[in-house]
Amino acid sequence: MKMRAILAVLIGAVAMPALAASVKVGLSLPTQREERWVKDKQAMEADAKKAGVDLRVQVTDNDAAKQVAQCENLVSQGIKVLILAPHDASSASVIVDKANKAGIKVISYDRLVTDSPLDYYYLSFDNVKVGELQGEYITKKVPKGNYIVLAGSPTDNNAKLFREGAMKYIKPLVDRGDIHIVMDQFVKDWQPSEAQKLCEQALTANQNKVDAVLAPNDGTAGGCIQALNAQGLAGKVPITGQDAELAGAIRIVQGTQSMTVFKDTRQLARKAIEMAVDLANGKPIDTQGRVVNNGKRDVPSVLLTPYVVDKANLDEVLVKSGYLKKEAVYRK
Ligand code: BGC
Repeated sequence: MKMRAILAVLIGAVAMPALAASVKVGLSLPTQREERWVKDKQAMEADAKKAGVDLRVQVTDNDAAKQVAQCENLVSQGIKVLILAPHDASSASVIVDKANKAGIKVISYDRLVTDSPLDYYYLSFDNVKVGELQGEYITKKVPKGNYIVLAGSPTDNNAKLFREGAMKYIKPLVDRGDIHIVMDQFVKDWQPSEAQKLCEQALTANQNKVDAVLAPNDGTAGGCIQALNAQGLAGKVPITGQDAELAGAIRIVQGTQSMTVFKDTRQLARKAIEMAVDLANGKPIDTQGRVVNNGKRDVPSVLLTPYVVDKANLDEVLVKSGYLKKEAVYRK
């Protein structure tokens, strides 16, 4: 056994290999307006601290040009690895290019950078599966009727994947004539207020005859539920979500939102820091052959599992795992 291995056994092998000198890692996030991204940031900062990583964080606030400038700045700070959650999937390929030229490894975090021929990793959840969970749930609840179908931001590759997954369940019922889609729209920047406006329009145009809403995440679901509520329809029209945000969980308990999809951002963040440490140490990541195509090439990918949550398993999945606090979810 090599000396390092013997030492590791003696000190009780650590999950995250510590680095000799603290390594600089850049983190570029699209937003802090949604709870999930706040959690990603907090978890990565905590994990970085444990692993002795000097994490430099920038938040773009949904601005592609700002993200490029901020990443250039991170590159100039001498980072070894860039964890990048792009606001605009395609234009972020410029960032990968700049990092690559400076010898910096890139992890495309949660959202895939598209259209780049370069070498980088993708770390996310199985996002088509997220959409499938939403589509399966809503079509089981409402196999016939008028649907509002919303997708996330058109600049976010995930939005397309979620939609693709959900449509696997919705489209066959549309083709059979059972489901009628009365609105089919992407929501700019995933904005809840935009989703609310779209729902209001669809309700008005269809004299409130809407039977189900496919909302791509909890934020947009919240906007839609306000629109439904104004018409006395909140709790009567099944609606999906995603992210297991506290507000979404509260609505599930209260009965105005049907479901959410739990993606454990603590696990994602932990994996990102682990991967960053490995890459900084020159160790390639074993993705066991898993890839996602970015339009130009297959990107080696690590994809975690998403879980469906509704009233029946919310305590089991979200509270028992410590993701949400019971007293917060069930506050009076
Ligand atoms: C993430 C979702 C999130 C959405 C809006 C997506 O890329 O995967 O979890 O709700 O962005 O921020």
